[in-house]
Amino acid sequence: MKDISITDEQINQFWEIARPIIESENFQKLKNFYAHKKTTIYEHCISVAKLSFLKSLTKKNIDYVSLIRGALLHDYYFYDWHKNKPFTFHGYKHPKIAEQNACRDFELNEKEKNIIRSHMFPLTLFHFPKCSEAWIVTICDKKIAKMEIRGEKNAIYF
Ligand SMILES: [Fe+2]
Ligand SMILES: [Fe+2]
Repeated sequence: MKDISITDEQINQFWEIARPIIESENFQKLKNFYAHKKTTIYEHCISVAKLSFLKSLTKKNIDYVSLIRGALLHDYYFYDWHKNKPFTFHGYKHPKIAEQNACRDFELNEKEKNIIRSHMFPLTLFHFPKCSEAWIVTICDKKIAKMEIRGEKNAIYF
């Protein structure tokens, strides 16, 4: 990735938006489940939120609050999908599960819901990313997942 510079003020902005979700009781439980290889869902979601935020800094008219919240909650499900029986279609099903869990625990706007529901695009054929924020998250999710599967050190961008 091309280096994108980030200021201390922007880092503070990120944490101000992210902290209430990250510190919530149920989000902390994501530490108990694995996303890819040795990366927990907790770490995965934070990496996706950080990379999405970084990428968005070069773009105009971004709703940072929805972007960060949607990215943090995009995989808000509480099970180890690797332990599923075959053909349970986790890839298709988990965006809806994540959205339902997120709506139970937080008040989400339409943009945040779209980010969660469309993050597996094009797998989620009927849930198309409808805003730049959702496009950024679906792209960053795939990039981070690839790194985690390859066993590259979990990206800590800032
Ligand atoms: Fe996902
Ligand atoms: Fe993900």
